[in-house]
Amino acid sequence: MKSEDYAQGDAFQTEKRSIFSTGWLPACAEAQIPKAGDFVSLTVGGWSVIVTRDPAGAITVLRNMCRHQAMPVVGVPAGNCETFRCRFHGWTFDLTGKFLGAPPPVAPREASANHNLIALPMLIEAGIVFFSLDSLATKPALGSAMPAYGGTIVSEIAANWKVVVEQLLEEQTLRPETFSWHSPLLALRRPGSTAIVEQIAPHTFLRTRLFAHFFGDEVDDQKRTDAEAFKARCEVLQASRAAGVMPTDDSALLSAFHKRIETAYAQA
Ligand code: FES
Repeated sequence: MKSEDYAQGDAFQTEKRSIFSTGWLPACAEAQIPKAGDFVSLTVGGWSVIVTRDPAGAITVLRNMCRHQAMPVVGVPAGNCETFRCRFHGWTFDLTGKFLGAPPPVAPREASANHNLIALPMLIEAGIVFFSLDSLATKPALGSAMPAYGGTIVSEIAANWKVVVEQLLEEQTLRPETFSWHSPLLALRRPGSTAIVEQIAPHTFLRTRLFAHFFGDEVDDQKRTDAEAFKARCEVLQASRAAGVMPTDDSALLSAFHKRIETAYAQA
């Protein structure tokens, strides 16, 4: 890999086509949206999605793209509502994405399923909601069920997503607990009877959101301090990659990660 692969949009577009469009991507912890009308909205690998819970309790993953003029319907990271009303011209959808109506000047002439928000293939594995652009992709397997959900820390990191993965994999070699890496965007640690799911959400080529979901343990000040320190280490590493310092394959995990990226670039 080259320095530009960490600091320019071309590589991100390649990754969007060859990695993010062909795997199951983590969207949120199911427990983040416990009640009817709860939703989260995020961008993962260039795909903007809304995860909703409808009145029947079912979860749907929708593309956050209005069917009127393809603008984002939701502009906040989380909330609770009965319907989604597009802030641009007022097209309105229910919690499953079904088109409900629009003001007369912008209303479609005829009812059509093409006016519904696009629902994506989704699954829930061990309390984590995943979606995919490719329903034939190999499904994630996280092992046994999680203990009770204890909260999520969200970090906005000014770094390329590959830097965040490298830092996670590098630091894992220093920890004794059971660890598994679920390509392309999820790490699972199981210290003792607890579990921590680290969900990486590449927003742009230089912005990454990291969600740390805690199970069997509560979020506390120490965990927030640790998350801030991890964010700072990633941003230092990003500066070093941008300056041309390339990674080394210090562990089997890092080596496998870099091989996956290089394969994706070769296929593009
Ligand atoms: S883009 Fe959503 S109503 Fe026009």
